[in-house]
Amino acid sequence: MAAVVLVGAQWGDEGKGKITDYLAEKADVVVRYQGGSNAGHTVMVGREEFKLHLVPSGILYPGKLCIIGNGVVLDPAVLVEELDGLASRGVDTSGLKISNRAHLILPYHKGLDAVQEEHRGEAMIGTTKRGIGPAYVDKAARTGIRVGDLLDWEEFRAKVTHNLTATNELLAKIYDRPGYDLQAVLEEYAGYARRLRPLIADSVRLVNRALQEGRKVLFEGAQGTLLDLDQGTYPFVTSSYPVAGGACIGAGVGPTRIDKVIGVVKAYTTRVGSGPFPTEITGPAGDALRQQGMEFGTTTGRPRRCGWLDTVILRHAAEVNGLTGIALTKLDVLTGLEPLRICIGYLYRGTVGEDFPASLKALEECEPVYEELPGWHEDITGARSLEDLPANCRRYIQRLEELTGVPVHLIAVGPRRDQTIVLESPF
Ligand code: IMP
Repeated sequence: MAAVVLVGAQWGDEGKGKITDYLAEKADVVVRYQGGSNAGHTVMVGREEFKLHLVPSGILYPGKLCIIGNGVVLDPAVLVEELDGLASRGVDTSGLKISNRAHLILPYHKGLDAVQEEHRGEAMIGTTKRGIGPAYVDKAARTGIRVGDLLDWEEFRAKVTHNLTATNELLAKIYDRPGYDLQAVLEEYAGYARRLRPLIADSVRLVNRALQEGRKVLFEGAQGTLLDLDQGTYPFVTSSYPVAGGACIGAGVGPTRIDKVIGVVKAYTTRVGSGPFPTEITGPAGDALRQQGMEFGTTTGRPRRCGWLDTVILRHAAEVNGLTGIALTKLDVLTGLEPLRICIGYLYRGTVGEDFPASLKALEECEPVYEELPGWHEDITGARSLEDLPANCRRYIQRLEELTGVPVHLIAVGPRRDQTIVLESPF
């Protein structure tokens, strides 16, 4: 198999970093296709922890071609810091290429993100304030500035001058905030232009050529299905397309090229930011799960809301992504919990349904219908095959497969590379 898409099947933070890292070893090319530095992928290499926001996780293996695709909104300040951080730890970053079609995040996007969140008041989305939404707004409004513009300074200067002037007016007149200094922004970005120039490439050609040559390409999704602009819990979503179809748009490949789609499913559910969450566990039990799973944001450090596994969500994810397999993560976190609960449907106005509603008002009214399963108490962090897992643990996995109709291919029982059970390798 040559092309595999890896997507988050829940609200992000499913542990994609670890699974990408596992698959990246087998891939020749790793491509990020959407989102930006709102993402945070944690990868453990031995005892060393790497937190990546923009650079594809494949960078941790020497000799891989790693691509930041056209669907990404790129904050050059974050990228430069990340590259310096990796270099200082001895990681060779020479395999990285950035799409000339990717859009740039400018300082005023981050300022707008913060001030617009403030103005939403109670209706705030809980964004990461990394400028993601405003940058995608400019892209859709056809006023965005692309990475390729850094190669033509006159063009870049003209576009920034126009956009910054307009944004300063918006900040002053609507939000009563100070604006940005044009010269300072231009100077800062002149530095990024010099630094990033050698990395800028026509990534669409690179990816398609690699596929034509039969090389293995991994498309690394960020965020998750329920944060997708169309398929997620709108408006409490991000501004891009984390679903598998987003890989086609955000990397410039046709759908006929994709062979497999792996959904990363955490053994329970978490969510950061606002919005309804039917299986949320509040109070001390929720706090205990958060501590046990170390559920604090990689990008913002915010505590994540925690809850039971929800297969209504997962069936939605299986459908909209066309999942061919599941990578189940953080199964070890459930050890000792008794009993375990899996949400199998939603009770809505007296009727139990199995479909995920589009309306947030309806979702808020939905009550989860649970099936209870016996837990396990044995330490599973050393398990390396299905047979090493306790019977109740295997039953939990089997139930997940039955309720979603998707086979489990990979199981993570700890953060390290070797703490992985492989039932079927996607490559
Ligand atoms: P934004 O992407 O910063 O605009 O944030 C929009 C929503 O997506 C908020 O609820 C964020 O908490 C959420 N979000 C964005 N990126 C991630 C991620 O990588 N993991 C989990 N949630 C995310």
